[in-house]
Amino acid sequence: MRQEPFLGPPNKRAATWYYRRVNWTKLNSLFDSPFGIYRHHKKYAEGIDTAPLVEEIKKNEAFWSATRAQKVAVQRETLNIPLLVARPTSPSIHVDNVQEVAPSPYFKDFPATLRVLERFAVGRNARISRVNIVSLTPRKPVYSHIDHGLYYAPRARYHLVVSSKGSIMTNGGQQTFFKEGEIWRYNNKVPHESYNDSDERRIHVIFDLLPNSHLGRLKNRLLWIYFNMRPYRFFKHRTVTH
Ligand SMILES: [Fe+2]
Repeated sequence: MRQEPFLGPPNKRAATWYYRRVNWTKLNSLFDSPFGIYRHHKKYAEGIDTAPLVEEIKKNEAFWSATRAQKVAVQRETLNIPLLVARPTSPSIHVDNVQEVAPSPYFKDFPATLRVLERFAVGRNARISRVNIVSLTPRKPVYSHIDHGLYYAPRARYHLVVSSKGSIMTNGGQQTFFKEGEIWRYNNKVPHESYNDSDERRIHVIFDLLPNSHLGRLKNRLLWIYFNMRPYRFFKHRTVTH
């Protein structure tokens, strides 16, 4: 059947409504971040010497585990080594809401990595919470998701790029190529995804910082409330395809 060409609204009354339609895309991009000025990822350090970190990870190859990949579907293309993990105080608390942190059995085998993180945390007037070394398979993504839970409320997430030939990071409509030796604050309270656009495994140290100051924690909590109030579909959502 031949499609009739659309020549505009059929009458004046319909036209009034047609041309008054709200441009939802524009409105959503306005509220994508508080006041439209918050950047979903921001670089805080660069030029870090990653050679000792790579060395350390190579030495401890045997510790790579797939337990996180098996538990969390969106992470199925990753391997990880947890350094600091959740320490549940009661079995009834969901792991995403646990505030306490404890070292994993691998903690003592990564002194160089932890030294970098600790030095960085001092500069941010914060302390390290959970730390995970994550390796992403070549040409594979971490699928889009939001990290929910009260654990994230007072904290901010950071990524340290240890070894990467192509790390495309996307969150809240922002997309950036993260490079080796950089540390980025990365908003995981909005839909986020990543893609390893290379033929080598991409290794990031993913860690959270808990600000020492009440003001810093309050700022993170307010952002957490803001992003948690927003329905998922209201975020501009871009998928990395290759
Ligand atoms: Fe995440």
